[in-house]
Amino acid sequence: TPRVFSGIQPSGNLHLGNYLGALKRFVDMQGEDFETIYCMVDLHAITVWQDPARLREKTREVCAGFIAAGLDPEKSILFNQSQVAEHTQLAWIFNCIARMGWMQRMTQFKDKAGKNAQNASLGLFAYPALMAADILTYHATHVPVGEDQKQHLELTRDIAIKFNHDYGVDFFPVTEPVIGGPAPRVMNLRDGSRKMSSSDPSDMTRINMTDDADGIAKKIRKAKTDPDALPSETDGLSERPEARNLINIYAALNDQTAEQVLAEVGGKQFGEFKPMLAELAVAKLAPISTEMARLMGEEAEIDRILARGAEKARAIAAPILQQTYDIVGMVGAK
Ligand code: TYM
Repeated sequence: TPRVFSGIQPSGNLHLGNYLGALKRFVDMQGEDFETIYCMVDLHAITVWQDPARLREKTREVCAGFIAAGLDPEKSILFNQSQVAEHTQLAWIFNCIARMGWMQRMTQFKDKAGKNAQNASLGLFAYPALMAADILTYHATHVPVGEDQKQHLELTRDIAIKFNHDYGVDFFPVTEPVIGGPAPRVMNLRDGSRKMSSSDPSDMTRINMTDDADGIAKKIRKAKTDPDALPSETDGLSERPEARNLINIYAALNDQTAEQVLAEVGGKQFGEFKPMLAELAVAKLAPISTEMARLMGEEAEIDRILARGAEKARAIAAPILQQTYDIVGMVGAK
């Protein structure tokens, strides 16, 4: 069976972009067709400063979010990255495969490092090699992510290809990014030209997975829109980023396409559409936030799930790392 791997950083609030671009799709892929492995990537989170107590809390919160959204620890492997040392061990090998020039082209590094790149951590620069290791230490074939991770997945492919080529092996699979669904890039609710992100200082720009029903409804009511009625076809959204975003969110939450949604709501004003969207969002998201809050009270249970997940993950990762060491020429491997 094909193997799915994906990860989420436990660095900020889990938000609607994470849910529609990634988590909801993780749940959709759980089942007979795929072996599914999902990770809280705490080692990626510390590429920028994280307060230790908050990192612990956010790691458990993301795990609670995974489970509340429908991931079942009996059907998917759920764990935190730092508990499976093979990720960092393989990352070192990949640091020696990836080229400086490849890393310098990464737009996420440029965005996160900002103007003063000399002051960014070395880990932030090497981030995509660790991400490639996350994926390839399981020989994962499918990686569901939001659109913002596309460039990192291309780099993962480049690393796999160069490793296979340099060592003359056909060992690492060339991974398929699975970017899809109606909302691969959920935008900021106050500015349709920026993506929804946990790092935006204004909480009104995003819907958090921990927001309650009133909070969700209020943020949708206050979301930026334009004064025109909704079009009945997606062509009519091309110059209207805020309108397009709300339609895509509606479609993704309701398991429809944007075309199907517009066929129903075309011609309506936002005054009529926003309450529909708020009702849908509350119906889909409030039960998740309630369940997350409950699970957050069961810290020992979460820690037990993560420990068990790490054990299962290690059982897959360890032999692949040993084979890698053997290919590279490390004495004592295998
Ligand atoms: P992260 O933690 O920033 O985001 C987690 C997932 O959510 C998606 N996402 C979005 N999708 C749609 N609209 C948005 N506004 C939005 N914001 C975030 C991301 O695309 C991602 O799928 N580098 C990764 C984590 C990672 C990883 C991996 C992913 C580490 N190792 C291996 C896949 C495989 C990241 O920073 O995601």
